[in-house]
Amino acid sequence: MSIQSIAVPDSINKIPLSAETEALIDTANEAIEAFLLADTRVIENFVTCDFYLLAQAIHWIEENHLLTGRRFCELGSGFGVGALLAADNGMESVGIEIEPVLTDQSNDLAEHLGSSAKFYCGSFVPRGVTGLLELGSDIKHVDTTEDDVFDEIGYEMSDYDLFFAFPWPGEHIFFEAVFDACASDGAMLLTYQGREGMKLVRKG
Ligand SMILES: C[S@@+](CC[C@H](N)C(=O)[O-])C[C@H]1O[C@@H](n2cnc3c(N)ncnc32)[C@H](O)[C@@H]1O
Repeated sequence: MSIQSIAVPDSINKIPLSAETEALIDTANEAIEAFLLADTRVIENFVTCDFYLLAQAIHWIEENHLLTGRRFCELGSGFGVGALLAADNGMESVGIEIEPVLTDQSNDLAEHLGSSAKFYCGSFVPRGVTGLLELGSDIKHVDTTEDDVFDEIGYEMSDYDLFFAFPWPGEHIFFEAVFDACASDGAMLLTYQGREGMKLVRKG
């Protein structure tokens, strides 16, 4: 693998958030709660990350000038809060989500917030990459059967500078393999790993 870890200090959880960022997170949490109360169908793979820690991690990455460009992509975006936070930081931001209802909810939330983030329904797992589907056969919480959505977006994975994902326990290896196979040198992958917090890697 040609990816290197970059240590994210535990102290990022002390970074103060702006009132605007807190308001964005509050609005998103209210929308998620309303959706979960109203929707009778359980979307098994949908759980949300710690949005405060994610906002703090994006802030820390920006403050340390770690990015080589301004394009952001959330892989498996759920309600899209990662992509909304990145857009709020001035990035050109998209989320990719396989569940149509979640894609609709995140586009509605973006419109409500006046955000430039855009959400696309389909898979982030690129077609035709040797070995990925075999690796994906052990992965239970990522859909590896649907077609990818990069043509519709108009950018390839190699066009993005920062990716974010919240993998299920043990599945971050798959996200790193997708990233390693398809991202450009210098691109970064941020993952939320529950109690272990945020993990950041750079390709190249
Ligand atoms: C653990 S949730 C994380 C949601 C969001 N990123 C967050 O941190 O709050 C993972 C999401 O990935 C979606 N998903 C699973 N396989 C996918 C695929 N191949 N392409 C796009 N989304 C996928 C699921 O429907 C789910 O909403």
